[in-house]
Amino acid sequence: EHPLILLAPAQLGKFPHFMLEEIYAQPAILAALAARSQQGLSPVSPALRSDLAHVTHVLLLACGSSFHSAQVASYWLESLGGVTVQVELTSEYRYRDSLPPPQTLVIAISQSGETADTLASLRHTQAQGLSASVAITNTPGSSITRLARHHLLTLAGLERAIFSTKTFTAQLLMLYQLALALGEARGRLGPERLALAKQEMARLPALVNATLQLAPQIREWAQQLAQRHSLFVIGRNMHYPVAMEGAFKLKEVAYLHAEGYPAGELKHGPITMVDSTLPVIACLPWNNHAEKALANLQEVRARNGEIFAFSDAALAPVERLHVIRVPGGLNDLSPIIYTVALQLFAYYCGVARGNNIDTPRNLAKSLSSD
Ligand code: G6P
Repeated sequence: EHPLILLAPAQLGKFPHFMLEEIYAQPAILAALAARSQQGLSPVSPALRSDLAHVTHVLLLACGSSFHSAQVASYWLESLGGVTVQVELTSEYRYRDSLPPPQTLVIAISQSGETADTLASLRHTQAQGLSASVAITNTPGSSITRLARHHLLTLAGLERAIFSTKTFTAQLLMLYQLALALGEARGRLGPERLALAKQEMARLPALVNATLQLAPQIREWAQQLAQRHSLFVIGRNMHYPVAMEGAFKLKEVAYLHAEGYPAGELKHGPITMVDSTLPVIACLPWNNHAEKALANLQEVRARNGEIFAFSDAALAPVERLHVIRVPGGLNDLSPIIYTVALQLFAYYCGVARGNNIDTPRNLAKSLSSD
């Protein structure tokens, strides 16, 4: 059994809970990770780079929050890396008879590096003959670092809260850098595209910081919605897994039933649930998918559903839509901004419901058995 993290309230400083302290640590952590790429230092070693040059498929393995970071990364790996991507929950995958193609890179993601199902799934792919693997973890020396051929450390520092916040966004940035390295190794990304990516990474920490400044508004929404019996959290494209992670956090932190859903799927069933008592939280960055997402939200409004949208300055005023405008202007890395907004929302919902944030019921940090 992996030891539980011992909580020491005396170390908390100005924050009432470790979770909030760790949410606020994100700009500095992301800045440190981004700085490496500004200095031309890729986290990817020459040996990993040579594996990347030979793969045509990527298999992402994870569970819990790490599964959602894998899902976000699948969009980057497809669009930047130009590979076929498969994302699997390890509690399921380890028992399957799937047949990944030989030129598959396995990416196993685990904050703790000790989650039994993820380790077992990685071993399972090794038994199937896949040797190119990389572990993404926050824990140096953890079992997963010994099992995978390569590993990348997210360098977020010890995460004391049970819920992953800073390690989740660090995973995302690390996976983004890996997707860029894959695209480069496969000769798909020219200097202009790479320069754009570097610009986004350089701007990210300040924009995350600006998102944190919205905490008072986000707390108001949380106080208004925390006692509802259920919520939908929706998004399209990369913001669909962000919505899944947001809903996951609401369950973990606030014990509030929330369902993360792709905006375009609501009409295929769940819309029957929507009425004036079931609010919909929307991730609505003003990008290529926004018009479609807005159309999905009209369907919600037509059923008297109340919509609380995180969007940006580019969204024109919409009737009967509550909006908090988070920083816009990021394309690839926008999921990190919306994740931070939803972390704060889940945190304040948990506080509003009187939960003990640092010692949640029924949860442990890493699970050694299934
Ligand atoms: C536990 C935690 C989740 C976490 C998951 C995966 O179930 O409650 O918050 O995301 O494990 O942990 P890992 O260390 O493998 O990322």
